[in-house]
Amino acid sequence: MKESVDALFVGISELLPLTEGPERGAVRGSEMAKVEVVRGGAIAVREGRVVATGTTEEITKVYEAPLTRDLKGLVVLPGFVDAHTHPVFGETREGEFHLRCRGADYVEIARKGGGILSSVRSLRAVPEDVLVSKVRERLRGFLALGTTSIEGKSGYGLSTESELKSLRALRAAGEQAGLTVSPTFLGAHEVAPEYREDPEAYVDLLCEEMLEAARPLADSCDAFIEDHVFHLAQGRRIFERARELGYRLRAHVDELSPLGGTELAVELGAASADHLLYLSDAGLEALAASDTTAVLLPGTSFFLRKERYAPGRRLVDAGAKVALATDYNPGSCYTQSLPMIATLACLHFAFSPAECLQAMTRNAADSLGLDAERGTLHAGKAADFAAFQFPSFQGLGYRFGDNPCVLTVKDGVIVHEVAP
Ligand code: NIG
Ligand code: FE
Repeated sequence: MKESVDALFVGISELLPLTEGPERGAVRGSEMAKVEVVRGGAIAVREGRVVATGTTEEITKVYEAPLTRDLKGLVVLPGFVDAHTHPVFGETREGEFHLRCRGADYVEIARKGGGILSSVRSLRAVPEDVLVSKVRERLRGFLALGTTSIEGKSGYGLSTESELKSLRALRAAGEQAGLTVSPTFLGAHEVAPEYREDPEAYVDLLCEEMLEAARPLADSCDAFIEDHVFHLAQGRRIFERARELGYRLRAHVDELSPLGGTELAVELGAASADHLLYLSDAGLEALAASDTTAVLLPGTSFFLRKERYAPGRRLVDAGAKVALATDYNPGSCYTQSLPMIATLACLHFAFSPAECLQAMTRNAADSLGLDAERGTLHAGKAADFAAFQFPSFQGLGYRFGDNPCVLTVKDGVIVHEVAP
């Protein structure tokens, strides 16, 4: 008598369930490069969860199901987890991109009231129901690229009312799209336009009102610590208040200048320190000795036409927890594609496909506290996985600029499929 399950996915050319590693937590250093490949693999799914993974022979000997899908010729990976995105915006910013292409500087554009502040104007103007539908379509875009969970930030409202609108829209859009969303309050993305002459008063508003108001809608708090935005002491104030309120901390640090934000993030026990282009040696050592994940966003270096990339290789070799993410946003990185990010990580960090994979599944899930449920295909976890048109999993990184994902399964259900 065979055990009955809801669905069997069989005949997978290469299945990488990441079950050779720990069920929970991140992998570091040389462990990142170790992945096992199951040729002719299969996955048994029941009630949205993985029952077992193995070879097709092993799985079909034990399990039967009313639905069997043959994924011959495809590579199957755990659903990607994108640990850093800004999907809650009104309009896109094509004009600014083309100005940058002709030499305009990102920070100069921001100083003149463009950049993030132009997104603030469009976010404030958009009605909440329209925002929900815009964000929902963007979240569906992630599923179509093999991403089954994201961290999503507010941060284009910069007032209590419009930050709450952003977080509510994010939650509704996540439910409607069927994507797992870990919400982050990023009221400290920029100084609000009303407070340009008195930034400290905006920090007061964040600490005395906004952080508390947003708490029911957000798991994490983020801040953009940068010369022209919030300086280190302001970052500390915001994060200390956020910690008091029970937020997990994530931080935009050392992106455009070496300010020491990484050291602050580590000192405060942040879940992640993101960007890190100008990471100092002290910051790198502090990260390596901590549980703070270095979230690398090479798409932003690429899209801002920077010569500089974060020291990704050195971070892995030093034993830091490392994740890769898109930084999807309308200004500094307009892509939702983690396969594209893998290409940049191979080219600029000398990551192997295995290291890319760990950084965009298991380690990203760990940094968001989603690792009990997601990030690998251990039995009992959510059946979140995606099938790619790669000849082998070495295709991750190699193929870029188009979508290699042909099928996405989220909580056991096929949510995206390209007709053969
Ligand atoms: O992660 N660094 C701050 N925030 C975004 C850019 C946002 C924007 O330009 O709209 C980033 O790069
Ligand atoms: Fe960002």
